Amino acid sequence: MQKYQLSPSILAADFNRLGEQIQTIERAKCQWLHIDVMDGTFVPSISFGMPVIKSIRRESQLYFDVHLMVQDPERYVKSFQECGADMLTVHAEACSDLGATLDLIRSNGMQTGVALNPKTPVSVLEHLMDRIDMVLIMSVNPGFGGQSYLPDTSRKLRDLRRMLSATGNEEVDVQVDGGINLDTIDEVLTAGANIIVAGSAVFNGDLVHNIQTLQEKIDHYNHPAV
Ligand code: DX5
Ligand code: ZN
Repeated sequence: MQKYQLSPSILAADFNRLGEQIQTIERAKCQWLHIDVMDGTFVPSISFGMPVIKSIRRESQLYFDVHLMVQDPERYVKSFQECGADMLTVHAEACSDLGATLDLIRSNGMQTGVALNPKTPVSVLEHLMDRIDMVLIMSVNPGFGGQSYLPDTSRKLRDLRRMLSATGNEEVDVQVDGGINLDTIDEVLTAGANIIVAGSAVFNGDLVHNIQTLQEKIDHYNHPAV
């Protein structure tokens, strides 16, 4: 898989045509799919859960990057594995024992992600880096699509990259989520993100054209000019 990826967030999809839109994403050569699960407790809103993931898994080869905005997510690790998640990203703020939750995700055969709300510092992860495949830096307060990028995020992405190299964890993926569009994508790529989530910027308007224009920006990083 390429290091830099676009991970379209289906929260902004037209759920009447979800299967068709996912096929379009797959044909447009994306490899990742960002799946936002909201429980109405950790965040105010409720999105969708296991039955939807299970249905789309039957017809998709994409890498299912499942972002759990769910309180005490350890309760559901096994169920999401059974539905076909490839990676489970849990919020540091939602776990009473983050290390144990990460161990549980790995022992169920999935990759681990940890999401940090805008106010949570990257230092909370320092002692857990050997259990983390991806860090998700939230660039909006989680809960809704279509919000504006919080500019402080860029500094946090740089801090995280510094921490990853200082601790010998350069291979850990850095995801950014919230308010990413053609105006903000260059900034987050430069600041160190390599997995770029976009919801409204992908699904509002022409899906194929939106993916192409975002993907072009990302591909510069996969194939830097010499
Ligand atoms: C927000 C979700 C995001 C959301 C991003 O809580 O985690 O994944 O879908 O939507 P946009 O790209 O519209 O900000
Ligand atoms: Zn998300």
